[in-house]
Amino acid sequence: MSQAVEGSIALVTGANRGIGRAIVDALIEGGAKKVYAAARSISSLDALTRQHGSVIVPVELDVTKTGQIAAAALSADDVTLVVNNAGIAVDAGADFADINLEAAREQLEVNAFGTLAVTQAFAPHLKRNGGGTLVNIVSVVGLGSFPTFVGYSASKAAMHSITQASRLALAAQGTRVIGVYPGPVDTDMAREIPMEKASASSVAEQILIAIEAGTEEVYPDPIAQQLGGLYSSDPKGVERAIAAMSAGAAVA
Ligand SMILES: NC(=O)c1ccc[n+]([C@@H]2O[C@H](COP(=O)([O-])OP(=O)(O)OC[C@H]3O[C@@H](n4cnc5c(N)ncnc54)[C@H](OP(=O)(O)O)[C@@H]3O)[C@@H](O)[C@H]2O)c1
Repeated sequence: MSQAVEGSIALVTGANRGIGRAIVDALIEGGAKKVYAAARSISSLDALTRQHGSVIVPVELDVTKTGQIAAAALSADDVTLVVNNAGIAVDAGADFADINLEAAREQLEVNAFGTLAVTQAFAPHLKRNGGGTLVNIVSVVGLGSFPTFVGYSASKAAMHSITQASRLALAAQGTRVIGVYPGPVDTDMAREIPMEKASASSVAEQILIAIEAGTEEVYPDPIAQQLGGLYSSDPKGVERAIAAMSAGAAVA
């Protein structure tokens, strides 16, 4: 089951910058009819609105705020495509011993439970509008944990679990659920990560291809492809590969 991007009506969370913004650009280039660009601050969407005009509908949405999710779902009831992109990586690069538990909880709240809450709010609209597609921007660290990102990794593992549950729960209503598992991407979030990074636009391009093809798992860059391949064939190998990456060694 696949979906055409052309003519779709999408909602993208965290649309004001990074991967979210690149997804909005790609959707509009692909012929989306309307994009609800959701962000914590409406004014952060000004550049996007100036660039694309009235195809963009700005929506104020902090994915941890129940009232804002309910209001967004009331107004954006014609969606056929929902992208859970909003996320934070508070403990990126911290030593394992220094991981702050409060920060770890905050990442779970935004990355995992924010995704679940938005999914619950918009699933009935997707159903009513013919099934549609739900895209969750997870991460390779959801498949194997980095000790210097342990709170973030745990939140993305939870998001992976929520993605699997959403796929099963929404299958009967005809909603396709796509999990996206990028490696490092060149955005504000990964600024301090000293690794090769994919561009946000290349990740967005792979996501659009997956929406059109109906692919359920997307590994949009070389690191993602390496770890995603191991996850399918040799799950324990993911740990070994991450150990090698963490040590800065070449990965076989
Ligand atoms: N960059 C990477 O290496 C990488 C790799 C794998 C997966 N990802 C995932 O890709 C997604 C996008 O990340 P990015 O790299 O584009 O990061 P980014 O440039 O830091 O952008 C994060 C976006 O999420 C929004 N956001 C944060 N907390 C939010 C909340 N409570 N409610 C609503 N929106 C919120 C931010 O809004 P504000 O502008 O208001 O802060 C911003 O729009 C995230 O889920 C991230 O975990 C990123």
